[in-house]
Amino acid sequence: MKPQVKAFFHKPTFTYTYVVYDGKNPQCALIDPVLDFDYKSGRTSHESADQVIQWIQENQLELSWILETHAHADHITGAKYFQQQLGGEIAIGDHIHLVQGVFKKVFNYGDEFIANGQQFDRLLGDNITLPLGALEIKVLHTPGHTPACVSYDIGGNLFVGDTLFMPDVGTARCDFPGGDAATLYDSIQMLLSYPDETALYMCHDYPPEREARYMCTVAEQKQDNIHVGRGTSKADFVAMRSSRDATLEMPALILPSIQINIRAGELPDAEDNGTSYLKLPLNMF
Ligand SMILES: [Fe+2]
Repeated sequence: MKPQVKAFFHKPTFTYTYVVYDGKNPQCALIDPVLDFDYKSGRTSHESADQVIQWIQENQLELSWILETHAHADHITGAKYFQQQLGGEIAIGDHIHLVQGVFKKVFNYGDEFIANGQQFDRLLGDNITLPLGALEIKVLHTPGHTPACVSYDIGGNLFVGDTLFMPDVGTARCDFPGGDAATLYDSIQMLLSYPDETALYMCHDYPPEREARYMCTVAEQKQDNIHVGRGTSKADFVAMRSSRDATLEMPALILPSIQINIRAGELPDAEDNGTSYLKLPLNMF
């Protein structure tokens, strides 16, 4: 059974959030929700999230799962806000402890931050399944962009996170801590081993002079992806990715995003004046 999929594009961060459901039962899953964030003022807000919430409520759906494909470096997750408003369990790949461990050191967190994934309601191992109405969510470990990336197979449709971008954009960087281009290549090959007509849903699109798109097929990726299409070898992919990654700047929101996203969307504990603070490591990167 194919799922029903509603996509929401968050223009400020080029991120797609998906609501997935079976069309008969009320249960739905939310994939990669976004919180609005104004870096200049340090203010989070939820105008975009509220539009998704309104759509879920208008369609009389119940939020069962809030699924992250990985700890994002380019936007702040709306997972906690959605959970507060609609319920549901927040889940992420079970290798998230690797990412938390790295950034616990970067931000010099003390014992108050435990890098074992306990901030999330559910840690997802490779190939485990979750129920979603008449559908099943199968978790696919797809590391490479980060060591904890997962994709979700829902009714044979794949939600690939940052494992792939649209064919004319290519693939995501692999130079974050624990990222690895050869590993990403293997993850991509696993996804492209699905039948040609399989629908792939991207987490982002960065459209080069065209409308933003969020879905394509395995066949389109195999034929046209500028980084892995037409049988690109692993060696050629790794060489391309490594030289390209060396030219990329840090994502604009990486420092605030990571600090909140490794906490499943919870802000750091408020200080005695009631305000939460983020850290800014100076001269580290
Ligand atoms: Fe990412």
